[in-house]
Amino acid sequence: MINLFKNSGLSVRLDLNSLKLTCADDVLKIEPDIRTIQEMKGVLLDKKIDAPRELYYMYRGLCKLKDKEKITANRLRYDITIIRGGFLGDEFIKTSGHYHNQHYPEIYEVLWGEALCLMQKPQKDDFSKIEDIVLVKAKAKEKIMVLPDYGHILVNPSADFPLVVANWISSDCRPDYSQYKQSRGAAYFITNNEGEFRFVNNEFFKQLPKVRIVRPRLDMKDLGLLFDIPLYDTIEQSNKLSFLNDPHRYNYDSCFMADKAELKAAIPL
Ligand SMILES: [Fe+2]
Repeated sequence: MINLFKNSGLSVRLDLNSLKLTCADDVLKIEPDIRTIQEMKGVLLDKKIDAPRELYYMYRGLCKLKDKEKITANRLRYDITIIRGGFLGDEFIKTSGHYHNQHYPEIYEVLWGEALCLMQKPQKDDFSKIEDIVLVKAKAKEKIMVLPDYGHILVNPSADFPLVVANWISSDCRPDYSQYKQSRGAAYFITNNEGEFRFVNNEFFKQLPKVRIVRPRLDMKDLGLLFDIPLYDTIEQSNKLSFLNDPHRYNYDSCFMADKAELKAAIPL
């Protein structure tokens, strides 16, 4: 069992075998939505893979019981997602990918493990043409801003260990999976190439810029997001999360910094 309290601020523990959470009495009990490989086949590089059956677990709407009303009043939702470690052929295990309605951003925090977040911004009139694509590599306690109008997937680049990620998002935000279904995956598939990451073009896309590889800025002070404060605890100053319902009031330029070449990648194939 891994105690996630220190990084998440919530009294929850992860069972490394079942990949399920156990919540303390002060935390709302939620059953996870489970994403199976059957549901994911259309977005995988190798569509013939059929194991493992369960790829990731989504606990939507977790909270301390005492915070429930406040979270609802602020039109917010806090989720925890657990993504299995391992491979699907050469590809790392990932989430299925979606866009948000109405320009809503989202803020992730890595609670355990390491995360890759691949974000892509399409042209307004043709989503097969990508204007910008960003890969964020993040470790425990680091926060990843999902920029308005960017579709996104999370990738677990570990052969052995799960990735645990939390997020705050507007409760009015609706995920739209249809574009990723039509394009049969994100703009790139991220594969393991003898210990290095490799980006494999998704041939659906007619225009694919080179991936910008970045790291999260540790403190986003203007947004009230600090490395040493668990993302959940930001609800104590709920006005700090108001950007999630009012995306255009904020400038997102300072959310990332250039990667110091620690991520070796062949771009693109
Ligand atoms: Fe999202």
